[in-house]
Amino acid sequence: MTERRALGRSGLTVQAVGLGGMPMSIGRDGPSEADALSALHAAFDAGTDLVDTADVYCHDDSDIGHNERLIAKAVKSWPGGGKVVVATKGGLTRPEGRWERDARPEVLRAACERSLKALGVSAIALYQLHAPDEKVRFADSVGELKRLKDEGKIRHVGLSNVGLEQLDEALAIVRIESVQNQLHPKDRGDLDDGLVKACAARGVAYLPYCPVGGGYGHISLSKHPTLMALAVKHGISPYCVVLAWHLAQGENVIPIPGASRVESAVDSPKALSVRLEPSDLAVIDALA
Ligand SMILES: NC(=O)c1ccc[n+]([C@@H]2O[C@H](COP(=O)([O-])OP(=O)(O)OC[C@H]3O[C@@H](n4cnc5c(N)ncnc54)[C@H](OP(=O)(O)O)[C@@H]3O)[C@@H](O)[C@H]2O)c1
Repeated sequence: MTERRALGRSGLTVQAVGLGGMPMSIGRDGPSEADALSALHAAFDAGTDLVDTADVYCHDDSDIGHNERLIAKAVKSWPGGGKVVVATKGGLTRPEGRWERDARPEVLRAACERSLKALGVSAIALYQLHAPDEKVRFADSVGELKRLKDEGKIRHVGLSNVGLEQLDEALAIVRIESVQNQLHPKDRGDLDDGLVKACAARGVAYLPYCPVGGGYGHISLSKHPTLMALAVKHGISPYCVVLAWHLAQGENVIPIPGASRVESAVDSPKALSVRLEPSDLAVIDALA
């Protein structure tokens, strides 16, 4: 039940369904540390070896790095944890719990240094610009990531919340291995405008975020009658139906469903056991 996909041209391969750490660290009613570690260990036991995090997966600026520290603890306390690819991001802040963009070069550098400490590593496997900052020249933000890579603090560079023009601008500055954007059956913009395929053509992995509908959206999406019927047909959960739809969009697509519970963490990789038929894909496409 495993399928591995390339993380761009980095030389790294990962199980084709990863895990997003955000739900473990942003809600006031999130899991206890013990429960979050159990969910992460259960995911690793199920073969998950790509975990997405960010310095800002926390309550506010007072506990920046919360999710990174949690993931570092899970990786260190799991046999074989050294093989897990931990991808983090910089370029946002959390004043009083708000999400704000700040991708000035000096801010990115400070964030990267802090993430290195939070993760307890000497180099970050995949460091992603969380989002372009309209107050900063995009080339300046990406240029700082190139410098951090040249200095060995970052092994590979990724982008998030970008379009094709920005991807191409960044590729002219530094090798980009991944693009992380929102994609799910009801928000399929990057499929319709060709970004997913454009990434494939450039050897760039595409990591769909909020793949099963996001923090609240996942509840209604997973109860959609079409997805529930396909779930019965294939003997998997409606969540896995959606993740199998992602996997069918291209060999470069690696969804990163979020999880805060063991049940979710062990269920999502089961999407790898199913190949949806063209007729199944067509009915999911029609949900948009
Ligand atoms: N780059 C960006 O700007 C950006 C923005 C948003 C998210 N992200 C990243 O993308 C990841 C995924 O997005 P997301 O977490 O917001 O939304 P999501 O993956 O669409 O949905 C997350 C919620 O769905 C539930 N879920 C997922 N798989 C399930 C399964 N197989 N069975 C039952 N429930 C399941 C989880 O519930 P439980 O919590 O109850 O387990 C989880 O909280 C994030 O964790 C984060 O790493 C990036």
